[in-house]
Amino acid sequence: METIRIIDSKKHVGETVKIGAWIANKRSSGKIAFLQLRDGSAYFQGVVVKAEVSEEIFETAKSLNQESSVIITGEIREDTRSKFGFEIGVSDIEVVGESKDYPITPKEHGTDFLMDHRHLWLRSTKQHAIMQIRNEMIRATYEFFNTKGFIKIDPPILTSSAPEGTTELFSTDYFGQEAYLSQTGQLYSEAAAMAFGKVFSFGPTFRAEKSKTRRHLTEFWMVEPEMAFCHQEESLEIQEQYVAFMVQACLDNCDYALDVLGRDKELLKTYTELPYPRISYDEAVELLQQNGFEDITWGDDFGSPHETFIANHYSKPVFILNYPKSMSPFYMKPHPDRDDVVIRADLIAPEGYGEIIGGSERAIGYDYMLNEIEKDGLDEADYAWYLDLQKYGAVPHSGFGLGLERTVTWISGIEHVREASPFPRLLHRIYP
Ligand code: 4AD
Ligand code: MG
Repeated sequence: METIRIIDSKKHVGETVKIGAWIANKRSSGKIAFLQLRDGSAYFQGVVVKAEVSEEIFETAKSLNQESSVIITGEIREDTRSKFGFEIGVSDIEVVGESKDYPITPKEHGTDFLMDHRHLWLRSTKQHAIMQIRNEMIRATYEFFNTKGFIKIDPPILTSSAPEGTTELFSTDYFGQEAYLSQTGQLYSEAAAMAFGKVFSFGPTFRAEKSKTRRHLTEFWMVEPEMAFCHQEESLEIQEQYVAFMVQACLDNCDYALDVLGRDKELLKTYTELPYPRISYDEAVELLQQNGFEDITWGDDFGSPHETFIANHYSKPVFILNYPKSMSPFYMKPHPDRDDVVIRADLIAPEGYGEIIGGSERAIGYDYMLNEIEKDGLDEADYAWYLDLQKYGAVPHSGFGLGLERTVTWISGIEHVREASPFPRLLHRIYP
């Protein structure tokens, strides 16, 4: 007899199979028991009819608690009443692991309680759906960049540099020297782009952000492509193609998960239509000022109400270009005709999800870069290797970083970035 996973039920209609699963929920009467089964691939129901099994099996079915683990034997049948479309007619139940007083019940729980039980909360249908979307986005990321000839390189996580500013660093002692958890792999990706032309990195990054918002994690995963001989306009095209590709991949391969999340698929489909609008930082400031945001003046960073307003003004993700130099990292290319802005672009997701991509064309010129590093109060010695890139065949190059969890949050249509990570790290939360 074959052991199968629930997701493959379609291929086994009419066959008697075994399935290892957990009891997500149970309803029973005197004559019939419905077991809501979960095996990590999908959910469906097991139907135990008293008249069709031994007394002992029916009693076992009735005694099962939420999250008991079982091996079920039975026949796969179509079930037109359920969204999933299949069920199993149970003929035997082997209890593998008992479960008593499972803390997460179908009733509502508060967020803190759920976060304290994240190791168990992950078993719920909603969390399962979100992790499937995350997985699909990761899969699509590798497919997209490999198809386009990028090589994946893995930058270090322990570093001595602080490219995104020195205020949000997690530092640690590295044999007597101060080291930081990486805020971005970018500088290393730039070195790798000079070696391999087109590269991408994908790994965890860390920011000691004191922000307690629905968009901030202290540990998050970033996809960071970097391209040699590439100007900003070409980079923007790659960015929008990549985002559209991920949305389409989720539509193609996560239909059930999107349904579980109640996500509007027609709306998602519109995000695959390119190009995305591009506006300048100047225009964004003007738009805000004309619409009652008196707190914004040129040179300010946008907060989430500002980004949400700008996003709502467009029906697709929108690029904001050419930010003030004063609020941008040292490595960005200055604008050729203006000394107050740099060739940077942030991509703002629709529906109030905020910035999902930050990117730029990179500055060229040894003296310029050295001066910027010094102006930022960074130690030249830590960046000597990075400055070498300016000495040996420097070329125009551009790149960007996409925050995985923010993008999962948007595509899933969920409230808070904490649910986009299996074990989120947030301000004041490092458990479980
Ligand atoms: O805009 P950021 O800071 O850009 C960089 O780090 C560049 N070095 C990337 C590059 O050009 N290679 O961060 C990039 C993205 C943001 O747009 C956002 O999606 C995500 O990373 N991000 C966060 N996500 C969750 N929690 C946080 N605290 C985040 N900070 C940034
Ligand atoms: Mg940014």
